[in-house]
Amino acid sequence: MKSWTIEPSGALKGKIRVPGDKSVSHRSLLLNALAHGEAEVRGLLRARDVMATWSCLESLGVRIEDSGDVVRVYGRQGRLQEPDGVLDCGNSGTSFRLLCGVLAGQPFFSVLTGDQHLKKRPMRRVTEPLTQMGARFWGPQDAQFPPIGIHGGGLKAGVFHSKIASAQVKSAVMLAAIQGEGILRFREPHRSRDHTERMMRAMGIGIEEDGDDLVVAGGQQLQASSVVVPGDISSAAFFMVGALVVPGSDVILEGVGVNPTRSGVLDVLQAMGGDIEVLEEDVISGEKIATLRVRHSPLRATRIDGALIPRLVDELPVLAVAAACAEGETVIADAAELRVKESDRIQATADGLRANGIEVEEQPDGLRINGGRLLGGRVNSAGDHRIAMAFAIAAMAGGRSQIDDVENVSTSFPQFRDLLMAAVT
Ligand code: S3P
Repeated sequence: MKSWTIEPSGALKGKIRVPGDKSVSHRSLLLNALAHGEAEVRGLLRARDVMATWSCLESLGVRIEDSGDVVRVYGRQGRLQEPDGVLDCGNSGTSFRLLCGVLAGQPFFSVLTGDQHLKKRPMRRVTEPLTQMGARFWGPQDAQFPPIGIHGGGLKAGVFHSKIASAQVKSAVMLAAIQGEGILRFREPHRSRDHTERMMRAMGIGIEEDGDDLVVAGGQQLQASSVVVPGDISSAAFFMVGALVVPGSDVILEGVGVNPTRSGVLDVLQAMGGDIEVLEEDVISGEKIATLRVRHSPLRATRIDGALIPRLVDELPVLAVAAACAEGETVIADAAELRVKESDRIQATADGLRANGIEVEEQPDGLRINGGRLLGGRVNSAGDHRIAMAFAIAAMAGGRSQIDDVENVSTSFPQFRDLLMAAVT
């Protein structure tokens, strides 16, 4: 098992360009694979999760040409090829759930599987609405857990109200709906990230918003569209918190995606007193980007709940580290979804903070964190990339730490440690 030993550091300084956004990278491959025509993707995230989507698509007959900076996807005009083996999504929930939506529309049999972490993650949230639309699924506990067999085709969309705010659920049903008949009316309790809507619109799909409902008609064809992938705000968040909590820090993060459905971390850190300047705003491939200047700041506690949660769901472990350095008690609530991420992130975050000497109370749907002094310690990342990176940041601000089970950092951010060490003065 691979571990990191991280020492407290001097100030973080300099310009950092984080790699491409994971959500946009998956979608750039999946949507263009179904499309009419060819598209180029620039800035694709080269990390294990996205490579899982890439290799599953190749097994489904999609030609993807890699010329380094540019990846060319040859669309299959809505018709994929029946695979002759099992499609392995590794650790990637996004690959698995979005492919469920894609394969629900394909008139052949396929099987999706994943690693030991993915095999514990709930999938009925996608297999249930897709079954209602007419696809068939087989798998443990009524198609709740991988591996899952799918026979798609003959879909008819209807009304679906999701109990959870999840872009993976929303994207899966939208991907299925455009391949079938009928009209999808989709509602979720709070708005989740909208990359699929943006990219589908850029590819010629009509999507209407009627109050809280997204309305998408079936039988629409995607037209290939080239994508420039913005920097991943979920990766930038580690450096944002690092710069805020390590004294003397002043970093510039270039080209970060600041789509409003993803930028909750910015709002919360600013509300905590964080000195973050948003500079050089621009739009690439329908997504807002900005350069962020982040300087060390004393932080105060806050409350994170409700509609904010889906806007920062992946950033909660590192926000918990910011809360541990803040004055007062921070409350995170309405975040029960954290229990079914790459690990049980409520438990893994609470354990990591306790190992650092921080007083923390676990709730079914969140955490109460009493700000104090991070002392360092031995942290088990539970095989979860974001827990490993969050506690690497805690170590920079606090005390020498050993972080165990860090291999999965390569699922989203293989360059994390090198970029972090390069920023240390
Ligand atoms: C993602 C959606 C989120 C997020 C995940 C990526 C996506 O999951 O946690 O890392 O790309 O659609 P949920 O939709 O399950 O909240």
